Amino acid sequence: MFVWSKEYSVGVEEMDEQHQHFLEIANEVLVLAAKAEVSKMELLEALGKFLNYALYHLETEEEYFKTFDCPQLGHLEAHNMFRERFKDLFIKVEQGSAEGLREQAEAAAEFAGRWILQHILVMDKGYTYCFHEHGLH
Ligand SMILES: [Fe+2]
Repeated sequence: MFVWSKEYSVGVEEMDEQHQHFLEIANEVLVLAAKAEVSKMELLEALGKFLNYALYHLETEEEYFKTFDCPQLGHLEAHNMFRERFKDLFIKVEQGSAEGLREQAEAAAEFAGRWILQHILVMDKGYTYCFHEHGLH
């Protein structure tokens, strides 16, 4: 299970809230995937919700980069790599047979949760200065 803590704060309330929600939905998928009797439809619904939220979150950041004209070396590329990988993992579950689906859904949620935590520390903290300069705290 993923836990957000202060060290992951980027100093921008809206982004911190989105990062926390991102992890909450990752945890929802993990909880569901741990249930023996879960159906493929339930897993897909939870994972789909997570994927959609993740895409929405990345777009929110990218909109601010554009609006504030923040220099973001490699940030869009990092987002795009994540988008591709997470979509692939979703499709695996979508196309998979009943066997191993829970493990695949778990792997997808683990991947995305670990990615965002690492990404916050390595990249997202880099936009704090620019966002603050434009009055977003
Ligand atoms: Fe980011």
